[in-house]
Amino acid sequence: MAKSPSKHILVTGGAGFIGMNAAIRFRELGWGVTILDNLSRRGTELNLRTLQKRYGDGVTFVRGDVRTDQKTLGELVEACDVVLHLAAQVAVTTSVTNPREDFEINALGTFNLLEAIRTSRRRPSLLYASTNKVYGGLEHIGVREEEKRYVFQGELTGVSEREPLDFHSPYGCSKGSADQYVRDYARLYDMKTVVFRQSCIYGPQQFGVEDQGWVAWFLIAAMLGRPVTIYGNGKQVRDLLSVDDLLACYEAAIARMDRISGSIYNVGGGAANTLSLLEFLALIQTRFGLSLNARRGGVRPGDQPIFVSDNGKALQELEWAPRIGVHAGLDRLHAWLREHEQDIRVFYD
Ligand SMILES: NC(=O)c1ccc[n+]([C@@H]2O[C@H](COP(=O)([O-])OP(=O)(O)OC[C@H]3O[C@@H](n4cnc5c(N)ncnc54)[C@H](O)[C@@H]3O)[C@@H](O)[C@H]2O)c1
Repeated sequence: MAKSPSKHILVTGGAGFIGMNAAIRFRELGWGVTILDNLSRRGTELNLRTLQKRYGDGVTFVRGDVRTDQKTLGELVEACDVVLHLAAQVAVTTSVTNPREDFEINALGTFNLLEAIRTSRRRPSLLYASTNKVYGGLEHIGVREEEKRYVFQGELTGVSEREPLDFHSPYGCSKGSADQYVRDYARLYDMKTVVFRQSCIYGPQQFGVEDQGWVAWFLIAAMLGRPVTIYGNGKQVRDLLSVDDLLACYEAAIARMDRISGSIYNVGGGAANTLSLLEFLALIQTRFGLSLNARRGGVRPGDQPIFVSDNGKALQELEWAPRIGVHAGLDRLHAWLREHEQDIRVFYD
C-alpha cells in the first residue's frame, strides 16, 4: 500500500498483540494512528511504552473501554477514516468462567462501536477481527487420526466461509454475534464493514499465555523452562498465520473497501502452514534446540480437531495469500523473543 499521510486509523485493542503490530505498520505507512485500549491484558503497558518510545506523539493513546465509553468512541470515530476493531476478551477459558464479562466486551463492545459509527457524520470503514471459532467444533467433518496429527478425510483441504455457523463456548457466541452484527450493519445501514474470521495468529509482541496465544506461549515456556499443558491428545491441527500476513490482508481490504463492503473472509495460514501441537513440540526441539516439558489436560470445549482456513475467497477478491511460511515466521518470533529475553523473564516472573 502506498504511503497516505492524510488517512487516520483508530485501532481498538491497539496495545495488544495484533493491535501493536497494526499501529506500527500503519504508522510506518504514514497514517495517523490512534489506539484505544483499557490495558486490561497483561503486557499491554510494555507494548504501549515501546510504541511511545518509538513514535512519541506520532501514535495517540486513549485509555478507554468499549463497554462503557460511548462518548469517547463517538469522538474517536469522527476523527478517523478506518476503524480496526481488535479490542476483545480473547480467551475461551475465561469466557467459560466469566461469560457476562466476555459478552459485554465482545458483543456489547462491538455493538457500541457500530452504533458510534452509524450515528457519526464521518462513518469510517470498519474492519472486524472475528475468529474461526464461529464454526464450532466442526464435528460433521470427517477426520482421520495419524501418528502425530489429525487430517481431513477425503478431498477437503480447508474450511470456507460457506461452512454453517455453530457458535460454541461463550467466546464463540460473543465473537460470532459481533461478526453477524458487523456484517448486517453493512447491509442495513449502508456502512462499510468487513469481517475477518481469523485462524491462529502469531508473531512479535505476542505475550502468549496458556489460555491464549499458544504458539508464542510454547516458545516462551521452552525458553523459561516452564511446563505447558496439552489439552487432548495433541494431534489437533491449526493453520498458523503470521501477523505480518494478516496486516497485509487488512491493507488489501482497505484498498478495496468500496467493492467488498459487507464481506466476510476466512484468513489463515492455509494448508501449507499447518502444525499439530505434537509437531510443534518436536519443532521446538529440532529447530530451536529447546526442550519443553508438556503435561496432559482434558479436551477443551469446542476444540476443533483440525482447522485449516480455505483462503480462496480472500485470494480471489483481495488478491491476498499468506507469504510467510510457518518456519520462517516462527524463526522471526523466536528471534524477537531472544532479543527481548530479559524483559520476557521479568514479565513472566
Ligand atoms: N491472536 C489470535 O490468534 C486471534 C485469532 C482470531 C481472532 N483474534 C481476534 O483478534 C483480536 C486481537 O487479538 P490479540 O491476539 O491481539 O489479543 P490481545 O489480548 O493481545 O489484544 C486485545 C486488546 O484488547 C484490549 N481490551 C480488552 N478489553 C477491552 C475493553 N473492554 N476495552 C478496550 N480494550 C480492551 C486488551 O487490553 C488488549 O490490548 C481479538 O478481537 C481476537 O478475538 C485473534
